[in-house]
Formats: sequence, C-alpha cells, structure tokens
Amino acid sequence: MTANPSPAHRWIRWPSDDRSPRLGYGADYNPEQWPREVWKDDIRLMREAGVNIVSLAIFSWARLQPTADSWDFDWLDEIMDLLHAGGVAVDLATATASPPPWLTTLHPEILPVTRTGETLWPGARQHWRPTSPVFRTHALRLVQALATRYANHPALAAWHVSNELGCHNVYDYSDDAARAFRVWLRARYGTLDALNHAWGTAFWSQHYSDWEQLLPPRLAASHPNPTQQLDFKRFSSDALRDHLRAEREVLTRITPDVPVTTNFMVMGETRGMDYASWADDVDFVSNDHYVHPGPQGLDELSFSANLVSGIAGHRPWYLMEHSTSAVNWQHVNQAKLPGELARDSLLHVGHGADTVAFFQWRQSAAGAEKYHSAMVPHAGPDSEVFRAVTALGRTLAALAPVAGTTRRPARAAIVFDWDSWWTAEHDSHPTALLRYRQEALDWYSAFLALGVRADVVPTRADFSGYDVLVAPVLHVVPTALADRLRGFVEAGGHLVTTYFSGIVDENDHVHLGGHPGALRDLLGIRVEEFAPLPEGAEVGLDDGNRATLWTDAVTVTATDVLTLARYTDGPQAGRPALTRRTVGTGSAAYLSTRLGAEQLPGVLGQLLAGADVGSELPEAACGRVDLTIRQSAEEEFWFLTNRTADPVPLPSVEGELLAATVEPGRDADVLVLPPRAVAVLRRPHRAAD
Ligand code: GAL
Repeated sequence: MTANPSPAHRWIRWPSDDRSPRLGYGADYNPEQWPREVWKDDIRLMREAGVNIVSLAIFSWARLQPTADSWDFDWLDEIMDLLHAGGVAVDLATATASPPPWLTTLHPEILPVTRTGETLWPGARQHWRPTSPVFRTHALRLVQALATRYANHPALAAWHVSNELGCHNVYDYSDDAARAFRVWLRARYGTLDALNHAWGTAFWSQHYSDWEQLLPPRLAASHPNPTQQLDFKRFSSDALRDHLRAEREVLTRITPDVPVTTNFMVMGETRGMDYASWADDVDFVSNDHYVHPGPQGLDELSFSANLVSGIAGHRPWYLMEHSTSAVNWQHVNQAKLPGELARDSLLHVGHGADTVAFFQWRQSAAGAEKYHSAMVPHAGPDSEVFRAVTALGRTLAALAPVAGTTRRPARAAIVFDWDSWWTAEHDSHPTALLRYRQEALDWYSAFLALGVRADVVPTRADFSGYDVLVAPVLHVVPTALADRLRGFVEAGGHLVTTYFSGIVDENDHVHLGGHPGALRDLLGIRVEEFAPLPEGAEVGLDDGNRATLWTDAVTVTATDVLTLARYTDGPQAGRPALTRRTVGTGSAAYLSTRLGAEQLPGVLGQLLAGADVGSELPEAACGRVDLTIRQSAEEEFWFLTNRTADPVPLPSVEGELLAATVEPGRDADVLVLPPRAVAVLRRPHRAAD
C-alpha cells in the first residue's frame, strides 16, 4: 500500500514486534542534563505526549568518555533500557559534535581557524576542524565504541551522525584545511595547468607552479580569486560530507541493518553545505528548521520543507528539529502563537516529513539554551506548550495512514542551486545587494499567492516531469545544464529565468559573446551591459510594476520573442524588461529585474497562463491556503494549511477529514479552515491532471 521508495532509501528500523504504519514523534533528548529521578518522569510524559522516538546522546562525548582512557556507558545503557521499556525508539547519536575539554587540551591542533587566523576556542560546541586527522581518529574511536556497545540494543532505530555538520565550523582556514584543500584540488584538476586555467591565474600574477603554493582564501589584500573562493566552498561542503562518510563507514560495518542519517539545516541563510550532493550518503534525509518570524516566515518554512523533499527525491524524510515556541538565538525570540506549533509541524508533514521532532524534550535549566523552548517547558507539563504537544501527538497518531507515502510532484518547480547561491553573492560583482535565496523565495511566495503548487528542486533533479521551471538567478550554468534546459524547452516545457542567470560556467568563467551566454540563444535575447540600481532606487515598467536592484540592457535577437513589459524610466527606459520566446509548444522567458514577492504574482500568473498551469484550490482559498499532496498507489492526502489569521472556506474540496490541528467549521456543506489550522483530507488516488 505504501509508495515505493528506491532501494537506496532505508527508513527508521522500528522495534521488530510492531510493523504498523506510523509517523515518528519526538525530540532531542538530553538526559545527561538531569538527575536520574527525572528520567522515569520523562518516559511517563513521553508516553502521555505520544512520543515514539528520541535522538539521544548528541552532546554526550564528555560524559561517555570522561578522559582519554576511560569510558562510562552505564548511564546510557540505563536510559536506552528505560526508553525501550517505555516504547520509545532511539535515533542514537554518535556524540562526536562537541569534543570534550580533555581532547582539546591534549590536541589544540584540532581547533578551527578563521579566515583572519583566529582560533575558535572550546567553551561552546563544534570546535573541531573537519579535516583534522587527529580529530577524525578520536571521533571514529567513539563511534566504534558506541556502535559496538549498542549494535544489538532493541531500542536502536537509526544512527544520527554528529549533529548539524557545519553548523559552526564549515569554513576552517587552518593548515589541516590547506593540506586537504590541495588534495581535493589535485583530485578535481589533475594538473596545475588545468587548475591555473580554471582559476584564471593569468589575472593579478597568481600563476601556481607547485601544489604546495595553494591556500584556502585567507584574509587577503583585496578580493580573493573568485574560483578559489568557489572551490573552497565546494571543498568545505565536501570535507564535512567526508566526515559523514567516515562515521557512516564505521557504523555500517558494525550494524549493516541500521539506517544512518545526519540532520541537515535547510533553512534561511544557512548555505555552507550543498545538501543535494549529500543526499546519497544518508539512508534517509533529516532536516532541522527554525522559523524566522516576519512577513515571509511561513513561506520560508514551506520553501525549506519543499526543498528538503526535493533533495530527498520526494521520499519521506525526518524533521529532526524545530521548536515548540521561541528559540534563543534570534535578535528577539518570539513565542509562537496558539496553533502555530501544530501548524508548523504539519506543514512539514505535508511536504513529506514522516517524523516530527523538536529541539528538545525538556527545557534546560542551565547552559546557553535555557531560554530555548522545548516539549516540556520550565513551567512543567501543566502548561499550554505541553498541552499543545500532547494534542499534536494525537493528531500525528491519526495521520498514521500517511506514513510511507510520497509527496506528489507539482507541475511547476523552482530550481535551486548551491553553486549559483555561492557565486552570485561573491564580492567584486555588479552589486553587493543581490540575495540569491531571497529571490528564489519571492518566486515561491508568488506561487503561494496564486495558490499554485510548485516544487523546489536541486539542479540534479529530473526536469522532464515538469511543465514549468522557474530558475531565478541561475548564475552558474555549465554547458551540460544549458543543454538540459534547452532540451526541457524543446520538449514543450516552459522555462522562466531572471537577471544574472546563465552568466558563467562551472569555473566561474564568463560565457562570452553577450549575456546571458549559456541561455542567450534559448531566450532569444542579448545583454551587453548589466545596469544594477543603487540601493533604494526604483524604475517603472509599462505594466505598472516598480523594479529594484537590477536592470539589463536587453536586445531582442530572435523573431519569435515577445516583449511582455518594458522599462518606462531609468537607464534602460524603452528597453525590454520581460521577454518570452516561443519554442515549439514550449517557451523561454526572461525577467531582467527584481520585482519582489508582492509584484511577482502578476508576472508569474501571466507566464503560468501561457503554460496552462493553474491552481488546484477553489478561488476563495488561493493565496490563503498552502496545499501539499501526499500519495500512495490507492490514496491521496490533501494537506490544507491556513496561512492566515482568518477562517478560510474550502468550497468543492473533496475528501474525508482524516485529521486537523483545529476542528474545521462547516458553513452549509462547505468546510471552513480555522485560522492557522491544518486539515488533512483523504481521498482515493486520482491521476494528476
Ligand atoms: C540546532 C542544534 C540544537 C540546538 C538548536 C537550537 O542548531 O542542532 O542542538 O542548538 O539548534 O535552536
């Protein structure tokens, strides 16, 4: 009955006596912060809340290995047994995220070094170099000890490698990093000639005549070489992935049947890790997400969860962390409003999460995160938060039939690319104001405003099932990607791209002959000069929109190009701002400026109409409801999330109500979605239109 994940996908190994479908529900659990008396109470409350899995021992290295030569597993044995007896499975951490003081005292050479040469000292967490051979040896010793000890423990459901790899140590400029960077560069380029070409070292006398001369882009006198910067970003992401692989290798050697994961951070401006390239190194994808309050806060949650699903190939994934209420690390840490805890959780489930977990189970009484919310707050179980937590547990139990289903792909997708993110925001560019992810998010907000489902997918995704691809600021376009995009359009697909797209190849070399070089012929336009706008400046378009940030000197070069909007003032007055070329039954459109989330729906609506892609929602719900669909061969589940603080009627939306975060109302026969509520409707599977 469940969908068919590829063989590469291995989900949580639930205790063997119970194979019924279920969603996971839980938290990071840090019993080492509490006296033993609290543990039994924890398990009792977990049962009350419906918790069935916890991530354990994440920051326990110092407790598990108090000195270089002593180990203490007794407490972990005891809590593993207690959890198992209480029916709670364990996603057991390898505990390598935060090295203990004895290790950093013995080996200060594992500490990361910043771009300016400062050491990041112990006292917080994640103070280790991803490329330190000494750190690696000690970390793997711990992994081996844990894997050996718990290999046959019945509570062990999955392995949790480290924690948020790269959270605080993605860019390390130490000598270890320099050595590993050279090895990485040799593997990538083979010869110094190839490297010198790729890095464009004829410029500013940067020619390298020996591999030993190569360095990470440490603080320099001026703008560091852009390809060196890009390669260092790629290398840093790969170095962390390499650590993941090293831990995974130990784990799978000792426990081949236990799935391995690590928690990604697809959220906000966290950008150091190219997670699309990590997806094949985990048995199932996990993600941590924290809401950034603001007008696009909920859109951003939906965007991130959607991208996680894209990375996971639409297969189920594990929401490893989010918050029940306030966090402690934003400028002002706002509590969630009633209904938001459950709404946020179910929006992730709608995008494919089969487990919902929080940071953390019990709010700490001491330490840097004592003001971070948890499932059991300082106030204790007699609290609004814990009541919301137990209510969510019931809702997730009712959603058990959703477990194992996949997310239904949309007809439209936004293409997301880490190389373009990193490169488009480099220094020494036409503007320092460009924000890659914000542009992508604005297009996503436009889809939400129109009520049209859109996926967010990495460039390595198969584009062929989509009717529309929106590729905002797709800056890095190697020839192979340009060919794929051309093939997509020639096969009848509709491509929409924007300013600063198609400009450079994989080495960050400009495609010559006029911009946007890699996509110029496909779009049927030619740009001789970029014309970015000063901060705060706006120019008008003849469709009434106001544009900021960027304009281009666009010339139309193909006869089948329609100019859909022109600039009315500013440096490009009279020139095309929005063009669309028809290619057979497909098309290729180009928007040469930034319109922002408020104005993009108009333009997007126009382009989608040309592609005959519309909303699956009733008109009254468009813009107010975020729709995601999960499906098996027989059934489909419509997750309808009210994005507003008002009730929203859902006329003509069919299906049996499987679960809701707040009981929906009825107006005659029409279901009414309460403010901030999510309802899940179950219906027989129908082929997508
Ligand atoms: C995550 C981390 C958790 C906790 C949480 C607080 O980055 O994995 O350990 O610090 O943030 O929001």
